[in-house]
Amino acid sequence: MENIKTLDSSCAFQEVHLLDVNLPFCLGCSNCFRKGNEFCPHKDIMTSLIEKINWADGVIVVSTTFNMRETALLKNFLDHLNYLLHRPLWFTKKALVVTTVGAVGGDSTIKSISGTLTGMGFNRCYGIAISAFSWNDYQISPKTQKKIDKKSTDFCRDVQSGRMHYPSTDVLIPYNLFRGMAGNFVKGSKYETKDGDYYTDDYRKKHVYERGIPLLPHQRLFGTLFYLIGKASSKSMEVTYKK
Ligand SMILES: Cc1cc2nc3c(=O)[nH]c(=O)nc-3n(C[C@H](O)[C@H](O)[C@H](O)COP(=O)(O)O)c2cc1C
Repeated sequence: MENIKTLDSSCAFQEVHLLDVNLPFCLGCSNCFRKGNEFCPHKDIMTSLIEKINWADGVIVVSTTFNMRETALLKNFLDHLNYLLHRPLWFTKKALVVTTVGAVGGDSTIKSISGTLTGMGFNRCYGIAISAFSWNDYQISPKTQKKIDKKSTDFCRDVQSGRMHYPSTDVLIPYNLFRGMAGNFVKGSKYETKDGDYYTDDYRKKHVYERGIPLLPHQRLFGTLFYLIGKASSKSMEVTYKK
């Protein structure tokens, strides 16, 4: 944060410590997937966190590495946002993912968090794993500080540029499978869900990814292929729920 403030004094930050917000465990009620996140039993806490991400151009996500991945605290927050893997939202946002790690698993933590964020639409995720050879008495070495400054500068410059990158081709798979299957979930269908509304948007009906995000020609083909697979499989697949 200090480096980013030096690079751009007009930057404003909002800091959230998940430990302080007392977010209960996701109950798996699936209201967010089916009816919308406003039906989440923890919506009061979640709405204020979502508003903070909506407000930001860039998000810095920080987690210690526990058991080679993000902490349960962060995982629980991301679980509450998993409906966005069906209906991505944050297409113009960029993230810097930071983890401290003893020795093993920092990269998998970054991969896990970044994978979730890009699934939610994030346009680019920068990652940095910091080896902390200490139990609660870690001091940043000049070498590590340099690494942090370099990565946070890249992140800050990218956010400032407002430039949208080509998405990873991987994110086109779930997006277009859900887009292809959305016909089963439109309003008035037997098992309607919010996916039905989302993908019947005029633009989304015709395009393999969100407006304003550039795509390479092979990505358009790839997206279309997965759209057709989703559409074909939806004919023989019914996703039910208790009414
Ligand atoms: C419950 C627990 C699980 C941990 N799992 C890992 C691990 O999988 N790999 C690893 O290298 N270090 C592991 N560590 C060490 C921490 O990642 C390390 O102590 C931490 O990054 C120090 O930074 P902090 O002061 O931000 O917590 C673990 C520590 C705890 C307490």
